[in-house]
Amino acid sequence: MARFLLSLCFIFIFDKEVSGLKLSLTSNGPAVRGSNVTFTAVVTGFNGENLKFVYWDDAQPQHTAEFIESSNISHWVVEYHKDLYEAQNYTVKVNLMKSFYGIWYLVTTASTVFELTDSLNGNLVLNQNNLDRPNRFVAVNKPVHHYVKLPDNEIEFLKQNSSIIITYWFIDCMYVDQTSDYSLNYTYPDVMTDHYIDALVVANNQPLPPITTTTTTTTTTTTTTTTTTTTTTSTTTTTPKPTTSAPTTTTTAAKDNVTTSEPHSVVKRAASNKTLKKNTAIKDFICQNSSIVPIGETYTYGHYQQSISVREPISSLNISGLNWLQHGDLLKLQVKYTGSPPFDYCALYIPGQYNVTGNETCTMKTTTVSNMFPLVHYFSDSDQHTVVVVLENDIGRTVSRATINIYKALVHAQLSVIVVPVAFCLVAVTLVVFGIAYYQHRSRHTIEVADFDFGQQLNLDYKTFTERLRDSFRNAVNFTHRDDTEPLTSDTRYDYMT
Ligand SMILES: *[C@@H]1O[C@H](CO)[C@@H](O)[C@H](O)[C@H]1NC(C)=O
Ligand SMILES: *[C@@H]1O[C@H](CO)[C@@H](O)[C@H](O)[C@H]1NC(C)=O
Ligand SMILES: *[C@@H]1O[C@H](CO)[C@@H](O)[C@H](O)[C@H]1NC(C)=O
Ligand SMILES: *[C@@H]1O[C@H](CO)[C@@H](O)[C@H](O)[C@H]1NC(C)=O
Ligand SMILES: *[C@@H]1O[C@H](CO)[C@@H](O)[C@H](O)[C@H]1NC(C)=O
Ligand SMILES: *[C@@H]1O[C@H](CO)[C@@H](O)[C@H](O)[C@H]1NC(C)=O
Ligand SMILES: *[C@@H]1O[C@H](CO)[C@@H](O)[C@H](O)[C@H]1NC(C)=O
Ligand SMILES: *[C@@H]1O[C@H](CO)[C@@H](O)[C@H](O)[C@H]1NC(C)=O
Ligand SMILES: *[C@@H]1O[C@H](CO)[C@@H](O)[C@H](O)[C@H]1NC(C)=O
Ligand SMILES: *[C@@H]1O[C@H](CO)[C@@H](O)[C@H](O)[C@H]1NC(C)=O
Ligand SMILES: *[C@@H]1O[C@H](CO)[C@@H](O)[C@H](O)[C@H]1NC(C)=O
Repeated sequence: MARFLLSLCFIFIFDKEVSGLKLSLTSNGPAVRGSNVTFTAVVTGFNGENLKFVYWDDAQPQHTAEFIESSNISHWVVEYHKDLYEAQNYTVKVNLMKSFYGIWYLVTTASTVFELTDSLNGNLVLNQNNLDRPNRFVAVNKPVHHYVKLPDNEIEFLKQNSSIIITYWFIDCMYVDQTSDYSLNYTYPDVMTDHYIDALVVANNQPLPPITTTTTTTTTTTTTTTTTTTTTTSTTTTTPKPTTSAPTTTTTAAKDNVTTSEPHSVVKRAASNKTLKKNTAIKDFICQNSSIVPIGETYTYGHYQQSISVREPISSLNISGLNWLQHGDLLKLQVKYTGSPPFDYCALYIPGQYNVTGNETCTMKTTTVSNMFPLVHYFSDSDQHTVVVVLENDIGRTVSRATINIYKALVHAQLSVIVVPVAFCLVAVTLVVFGIAYYQHRSRHTIEVADFDFGQQLNLDYKTFTERLRDSFRNAVNFTHRDDTEPLTSDTRYDYMT
């Protein structure tokens, strides 16, 4: 017996080290009061043996539970009732135990702290073109789908314990709308501006209060909300398709009407004055920074804020410039584009043809506020290249390309091999024509000169023979000289025209 106890002690002391089991505990908190919190214990170094997980929290009244698992993971779901638990930090602990001949002994312990909150958690998400924005920038003149993304456990709590859930939407402290689906569609028309979005989700944690004008519908509500709590999950997932063959179709449909359309119309028709008052109180809460929540204790609310900036996406990108280059020339391109600055850009020089995939990335980026930039590059080889331009702004990115062809100087020489002889031939032909024309004109004028000379001879008798001879000779020279220009050019021109 003593030996058995001794060996037991031995196991107790050394098993922790020998077994190598490690334990970690996490929660899906923070969570709003009233929702379920799930704790997850994970064991590493698990060998397939049965394990016991013993949980407890430090809340009053306390929750405890223990599970025997044959796997390395254990979940504990705890419901923190709204009217029993305060909003504060709680600690949850778990003991991991192993069995030795039916006796459970402690291997290790883990703990976690989670926060129970008064208001709903989650966050406000901006969605454009069915994509959640990764930042606070949205594109101008395109609908922005704003929605409050709640944790699953809080959605479940609201579904089970509220008949009206309304989200009030404010933009720059101006009331915009109230919706029952946690979302708002809004288009911002003003580029380069900032706006402040406030969303207040309000859920009553009770059946719909009886309102005189809509007595009939409210009575059905009270019955359905209390009875069909278990079918809520299936109800909401199949909302677009009311025609289900399940036996709960009638209650489902009734609940559908209550949760979606009815609160809206009730609020709008019967209690519009009340809503107005409430809206101003909410507006004070949102805009005047008042800490007084304008709703009763029986309500659960969540306040979400987000500042957004409206920008213009990159809509057109043009690359212009010479894309046929002689080898050795610098590539000089102009890249022009539209959109809101600042821009980050880079260029990739890829040999050969390249088709853009759209996900090209750069390691080095240049930032500019200008709507254009030059690209200068030297290609050492003479081939085809593709210049890929990646341009980004706060809204998005664009990838564009230009194909560059580089021809060698040899191509130029080949060209002159053809051009030069042709040019010389033309010149030769011109000269021949020129020469013939010149010759013809001169012979014609020589006759004329002789005539003229003869007349002159008649008028000037007093000149000596040698004087007359000299004059006529000079005139002959002068006339041929003058003829050189005018008629010849017209001849030449004619030649060229034919
Ligand atoms: C649902 O709301 C009622 C009224 O506020 C509250 O008493 C009850 O505890 C809530 N249920 C849960 C699960 O918190
Ligand atoms: C838990 O066990 C599963 C298989 O049973 C294994 O795939 C997983 O890696 C284990 N996890 C840890 C943390 O050991
Ligand atoms: C819970 O703990 C966190 C982190 O330690 C702290 O920021 C927060 O204020 C605490 N909440 C309450 C209600 O004490
Ligand atoms: C919380 O968990 C319990 C037990 O799993 C379940 O019955 C209850 O409907 C859950 N409540 C909420 C609000 O999810
Ligand atoms: C709001 O936009 C989303 C996403 O574009 C769309 O699914 C939804 O139907 C729109 N809602 C309304 C009320 O127009
Ligand atoms: C919702 O209510 C309207 C009128 O109150 C009714 O005509 C309609 O059939 C109801 N829808 C469902 C899904 O029950
Ligand atoms: C709001 O209240 C005023 C007086 O307090 C009344 O004249 C008006 O008709 C009410 N409006 C509605 C929509 O009930
Ligand atoms: C709102 O209150 C917070 C803290 O109470 C303070 O830091 C902030 O400056 C206030 N804002 C305005 C607009 O009064
Ligand atoms: C790009 O070219 C098109 C067509 O020539 C022109 O309409 C557009 O304005 C140009 N865009 C920019 C940013 O220069
Ligand atoms: C680029 O795309 C065109 C047509 O889509 C295709 O003919 C060509 O082969 C592609 N080039 C490369 C390098 O992928
Ligand atoms: C880019 O897209 C191409 C084809 O679409 C794919 O093969 C490649 O893996 C992608 N690269 C990255 C970094 O996503």
